[in-house]
Order: sequence, then C-alpha cells, then structure tokens
Amino acid sequence: MKVDGTPYRTIWLGADGMAVQVIDQTLLPHHFVVRELKTMEDAEKAIRTMIVRGAPLIGAAAAYGMALAMATDSSDAMLARAYTVLMESRPTAVNLRWALDDLRALLAPLPAAKRRETAYRRAAEICDEDVEICRRIGENGLGLIRRLKPKSDRINALTHCNAGWLATVDWGTALAPIYQAHNAGIPIHVWVDETRPRNQGASLTAWELGKHGVPHTVIADNAGGHLMQHGQVDFVITGTDRTTRRGDVCNKIGTYLKALAAHDNGVPFYVGLPYPTIDWTIEDGVREIPIEERNAREVSHIAGRSETSDRATVQLLPDGSPAANPAFDVTPARLVTALITERGVCPASEAGLLSLYPEQSRAA
Ligand code: MRU
Repeated sequence: MKVDGTPYRTIWLGADGMAVQVIDQTLLPHHFVVRELKTMEDAEKAIRTMIVRGAPLIGAAAAYGMALAMATDSSDAMLARAYTVLMESRPTAVNLRWALDDLRALLAPLPAAKRRETAYRRAAEICDEDVEICRRIGENGLGLIRRLKPKSDRINALTHCNAGWLATVDWGTALAPIYQAHNAGIPIHVWVDETRPRNQGASLTAWELGKHGVPHTVIADNAGGHLMQHGQVDFVITGTDRTTRRGDVCNKIGTYLKALAAHDNGVPFYVGLPYPTIDWTIEDGVREIPIEERNAREVSHIAGRSETSDRATVQLLPDGSPAANPAFDVTPARLVTALITERGVCPASEAGLLSLYPEQSRAA
C-alpha cells in the first residue's frame, strides 16, 4: 500500500541485504518511523514491544529473526536458541509458531554454511506468499460484499483492532476485501472500533484507511451494538490470531462482544484469515488457546499527541487502582457467519475448513 505516494510493505530487507526494515507501529499515527533490526534480539524485541504486530506480520518478523540469527551464528545451538527466544515473544498468534517450525525444519538438516542464505530466502518467500494470500482473501471477501443488500446508499462495515496491511506484509486480512471493494468503486464506509487498550483501531486502522482514501469513522468500542440495532452496520469483519480446527477464532479483546451483538441483530460476522493462522492441533478455542496477559499499564495509561507535546502519556486511573489486561478473546464458531481464506469462503466449522483444506483431514 502507499504512504503519501510511496509504496511500502510492512517489512523488507535493507540495501545491505541483511538488516531488516520495519515500520514502527508504536509511533503511528503521528510519526512514520522506519526501524532497522540487525540481530535476532532486535526482532524478538520488535515483536514483544509491538513495533511489529498482527498475526501474519509477527510470523514474517519471526522468520527474518531466524535469518538474522543465522547471519550471526549458524550453529545448531543458535538455531535452537533463536527458535526458543522468538517463540516466547508473544503467545497467542499461531503464525509465529508456524513460521518458526517452517524455518527450523528447513534449516536443521542443512550444513551450517548453507543456513544463512536459505533462511533469508525462505523469509522473503514467506513475505511474498503472505502478500498473495491476502490479495486472494480480498478477492474472496469482495465476492461476499458484492452479494450484500446494504440498508443505505453505502455499505457500512465494522471492524475491530487492526487487521489491515499493517498487520500483514501487505493488503491485510479483514481489510483486504474492503480495499478491493473501494478500489472497485463500491461505496464502502468503515466503522472503526478504537480497540482499547492499545487503540490499534484508532491509531492504525484509521491511519491506513485514511492513507488509502477509504471513508471511515472511529467509534468508541462500546458504540458498535447501538449502531447495529439501528441498521447502520451491514457486516462486521475482523482478523484472527488463531483459528481452531472447528472454527473458533481468537482475536483482539472485544471481538467476542461484537460477534454477540452482530448475532443478536442478524448482522453477518465475517473473519478473514490466511492458512498459517489455523491451528489444526486444537478444537476448543476458549479452553485451549493461550491468552496473552499484557502489562496493566496499557490500561491505566494512554499515549498520544497532546496540545503541547508531540508524544505524551497520561494516567487514566486513580492512583492505586489495579488493572487487568487480557489481550485477546475467543469467538465461538457458532457466532461466525463465514471464514474468508485464500482458498475461498467456508462455514466456521471443521467440515467447512476441511472442505477448503482436505489435506488436513485426520484420515488424509
Ligand atoms: O495485539 P495485536 O495488535 O498484534 O493484535 C492484532 C489482532 O488482533 C489482529 O486482528 C490479528 O492479528 C489478525 S491480523 C491480520
């Protein structure tokens, strides 16, 4: 996607072919800063501190983290260490495990001298593949959008968190169909949940939709149900950090409440996902997916631009009030109207997913 006329991905290699460049997402929307990751530890920190975030981008950054590790030291010991360190950077998005398993399986049998080049090549392939996957999710979602019967002269989508190009390498998952609809001339407007506590909707989704010229309005997280009751939402679309074999989806905290409101109001609730987000090893998302508990300071404080400072942090809570910060929740498959993948659209169920990914059938 373009930023002020210049095409960008969210992660790319620098001119030396070694250091990895990323957009620092902790500084958006007020500052557009590119950071250089020179070591595996840099990559781990970028994931942990959410300089890069979003399930597919976390996977891509982890792949490059392995490449950076191999550039420093391509021994078996380093391969094992990089796998463990990167795996522990964030627990919920399964793309992380998918990318690390992929790289480890590829690198382990190779002689050490070949690991560095192979790791960089595979990391680049994972990025290119993510772009193509997201483009196809966009096309498949566009088919659904074309079939909607909007309640007004524009189609109103509602999205939660950021599942746009910033969360992937390009295009996005949930936002890919929206970009494709907009590019096709379909009048589409997006209600953007602010997404407390880190405000990925207000700071990232609003920013990237604005850069692409997609009409949007930021709303407080609590407003969506009201808008649905009054016919102002034609569909809800989100991403997912981990999708279980039977179609439960784990996404940014608050997604479940939107799914409940959508269900109560007969509003379709779609989820866009690439295949590395499916965890075929688990079925019950509520019981089996590890939910990241982040620092309470993300709830008690908020950062932004003040009238006097370019970057200010303020305290919201009374001194001494404790805060809790579960970062994700699980929406059971029964509340999901359909899953939109790179292979097509399917019901959120084991049978639905297996109709698109028959190679994952237990009998296969
Ligand atoms: O904590 P974050 O910002 O990494 O959470 C991101 C999300 O919840 C996205 O919706 C999810 O990763 C799907 S992204 C395409």
